Amino acid sequence: MELDGRTAVVTGAASGIGLALTERFLDEGMSVVMADIEREALEREAGRIEAAGGKVHAVVCDVADSNQVADLRDRALEAYGAVHLLCNNAGVANGRPNHKTTPAEWDWVVGVNLMGVAYGVSAFVPVMLEQGEGHVVNTASEAGLTSSPALGPYHPTKYAVVGLSESLFMELEGTPVGVSCLCPELVDTKIFESTRNAPSELGYRQPPSIPIDQIAELMGTTPLPPADVAGRVAYAVRSGEFWILTHQSTLGRVHNRNSRLNQLRNPKFGN
Ligand SMILES: NC(=O)c1ccc[n+]([C@@H]2O[C@H](COP(=O)([O-])OP(=O)(O)OC[C@H]3O[C@@H](n4cnc5c(N)ncnc54)[C@H](O)[C@@H]3O)[C@@H](O)[C@H]2O)c1
Repeated sequence: MELDGRTAVVTGAASGIGLALTERFLDEGMSVVMADIEREALEREAGRIEAAGGKVHAVVCDVADSNQVADLRDRALEAYGAVHLLCNNAGVANGRPNHKTTPAEWDWVVGVNLMGVAYGVSAFVPVMLEQGEGHVVNTASEAGLTSSPALGPYHPTKYAVVGLSESLFMELEGTPVGVSCLCPELVDTKIFESTRNAPSELGYRQPPSIPIDQIAELMGTTPLPPADVAGRVAYAVRSGEFWILTHQSTLGRVHNRNSRLNQLRNPKFGN
């Protein structure tokens, strides 16, 4: 799909990959609806972009609430008349192992990471089909292709986004609506401070900021700048590619995971 002159809706647009997608799409000549739950960051970033001449429309939206996602669609259509590209990008991590995650935390992480994507698909794809043009980019993760003992509920939600995206791609084959699945390895963003946006009843304290190099060392990888990821997304949308990976090392980890599965060997983290 061509980008110039089209409209994109990006969720989680106030920070990290979503903000970089917004800026890339503007450079490509698109109008962008920036959606995010963090009002202050959203207003700050949208204001900065508008002051520099960018055509954006900011909408505060909790993607875990289907009514708010439907409202986001309506407001995007009201502002620009069409939506050609949807980036279901908002995501969070709770930083606890699966067995130490409370039911309320599960609801939060599943609500944002999986239901946020599902609600986006339900709200926007029918509009794109009717328009006769569209593309959906779902942000999963390397953590949706391989597992680790470090990310708890993040893994099951990201595996689910990969599965949803694969089946959506097949369902929409032959229609004018394309699908891509973004599976980044490590990107230099605020994802490790996700609990800043958790519902207050979960009782998280303000998360500390951990230097990205420290995380990179633990994960055995190199962090990418979000702008590089945005460039790959723009390329994939244009060329109709489903898989968007950021690191060559992801393929090695997937290969090892699949080999163990093929041989019915038990899971093991790492290469
Ligand atoms: N950074 C990485 O290393 C990495 C790797 C793989 C996948 N991802 C995925 O990339 C996506 C973007 O994350 P990021 O790394 O840019 O992190 P980030 O924390 O910098 O940005 C995420 C944005 O999502 C917003 N958000 C959180 N909950 C929301 C909700 N309920 N409704 C709407 N917006 C909400 C946040 O306010 C924030 O602006 C996520 O889906 C994340 O899981 C990130």
